[in-house]
Amino acid sequence: MSQLPETILETERLRLHEWDDGSWDDFIRLTNTPGVMRWLGGVLDGDGIATFRARLDGYRDRFGHTFWCCRRKDDGGHLAGEVLGMVGLKRANQEGGPQGDHEIGWRFREDSWGHGYAKEAALAVRDQAFGELGAPHIIALTMDGNKTSWGLMRRIGMQRRADLDFASKDFGGNTIIAYSLAREDWELLA
Ligand SMILES: CC(C)(COP(=O)(O)OP(=O)(O)OC[C@H]1O[C@@H](n2cnc3c(N)ncnc32)[C@H](O)[C@@H]1OP(=O)(O)O)[C@@H](O)C(=O)NCCC(=O)NCCS
Repeated sequence: MSQLPETILETERLRLHEWDDGSWDDFIRLTNTPGVMRWLGGVLDGDGIATFRARLDGYRDRFGHTFWCCRRKDDGGHLAGEVLGMVGLKRANQEGGPQGDHEIGWRFREDSWGHGYAKEAALAVRDQAFGELGAPHIIALTMDGNKTSWGLMRRIGMQRRADLDFASKDFGGNTIIAYSLAREDWELLA
């Protein structure tokens, strides 16, 4: 039997785990689609896919955290056992934007949207950031049009921070909008 990749976090319905090649191939097949990539610069080509995987591995190696694979537990429910997407933390590094902050992010396959999976996973990542990882605050970045993403930022208690917005070269000069959550505000949510 093949070994399961190391589990990072578990929630009621989900398992966040380290990437292996099979999980990565599933993730790319299921999420490298026009709908999912609409606000992320469009569908990636082979080079883009390889660069992205190297970036995620690099965050893990440097910081001990990255955007992890998110899989539905194998419990017979909706999409049981399947890769749903990715969720986790990097350190903010976009040119022109905040640098070094714990940045939460997510990307889920379209047929998993609307089931609360992204929120369930993001809450676990948020709490790990302030708990085990000792982050003083977390941030999240998106574009104004990506309502489902900033909606999720709000649903996990983050607040709009227009003072951290910036124009991104990576996204054609578009404005990147910021949300954040400070440790003292997170403590009030518990
Ligand atoms: C951003 C993204 C992860 C949000 O996914 P999502 O499924 O809408 O988010 P949630 O997990 O919070 O689910 C919320 C929805 O599930 C519903 N839901 C169903 N069962 C639920 C449950 N048990 N618990 C919570 N919500 C539930 C909610 O009512 C809500 O539906 P609504 O939007 O119709 O009101 C997803 O749209 C995505 O992957 N987008 C593409 C990638 C991307 O742009 N990433 C961000 C880059 S900045």
